[in-house]
Amino acid sequence: MNLIDDIKKLKQEKNAIILTHCYQNIELDEVSDYVGDSLFLSRMAAGTKADIIVFAGVYFMAQSAKLLSPDKKVLLPNMNSGCLMADMIDIKRLREFKSQNPNIPVVCYINSTAEVKAECDICCTSSNAVEIVRSLNKEKVLFVPDTYLGKFVEKKLGNVEVITYNGFCPTHLRILPEDITNARKKYPEALILAHPECHCEVSKLADFVGSTKEIMEFAKKSDKKQFVIATEKGVIDRLNRDSINENWNKEFILIKSNIICQNMKHNTLNDIYNALKYEQYEINIEESIRIKATECINRMLCAGKINK
Ligand code: 13P
Ligand code: SF4
Repeated sequence: MNLIDDIKKLKQEKNAIILTHCYQNIELDEVSDYVGDSLFLSRMAAGTKADIIVFAGVYFMAQSAKLLSPDKKVLLPNMNSGCLMADMIDIKRLREFKSQNPNIPVVCYINSTAEVKAECDICCTSSNAVEIVRSLNKEKVLFVPDTYLGKFVEKKLGNVEVITYNGFCPTHLRILPEDITNARKKYPEALILAHPECHCEVSKLADFVGSTKEIMEFAKKSDKKQFVIATEKGVIDRLNRDSINENWNKEFILIKSNIICQNMKHNTLNDIYNALKYEQYEINIEESIRIKATECINRMLCAGKINK
């Protein structure tokens, strides 16, 4: 038997599911139950009947799955899988930011630790950030840790001041406004699709800005034939695969060859096999933090439902 069959067998024996973020190595898709963006995977984690969730993503994503499914065993296959943006804020820095801007609700991007979520009012992901901030119905909100997603929301809403913490995604910030203008010249027929973690000037120049899953759905549905993708390479790998397998007859071009989140690439098929076999590495969250962080995430899921 090969590794893929061994993983599938273990999954069945242990009643496990594998959730995979679309920035992960594409070969993981073959053993995955669901592949998608943070919001979609959170929803799958919340609704599953499996006993074990293997989260092929980064640490904060596995932590969020544990918050949403506290009775399940949640495993992160490789403990080196962190998020550089999530690591830019901790409790001390969050408290300082809040004390500099008192009595303003705090929205926290899901790319943050459970400890940070526990001290924020409501969570959001890149696909629902605009809707979540709108749902608060306030003139001012604090937004942590991603300054660019926060500013994107402010621009979209137009009537809310979004005071942002100074975190960012180093991978998305490698995309420069001149990369967009150069791509326009080189591929005049193409649509340019970007992630809202990109610099505001990049988002402004793109034709569509959305979460990883939204970018993939937009590209699939569009009548256009050529797309320049301004987000992590995992998205374009999947678009190219699906375009070939499903005869979309579309071309996808990565804006720049180095748009790779190395932290997302740690999990291998071997790690997934070991995760299932030895039930490693288990995510546990201290009870008082778990309760408060879960409230923060649940408020997002409820607001999402109300606004649908
Ligand atoms: P999505 O919410 O679009 O999946 O993004 C997560 C992420 O880490 C992007 O860098
Ligand atoms: Fe974090 Fe950026 Fe990697 Fe997403 S792409 S996991 S925000 S470092």
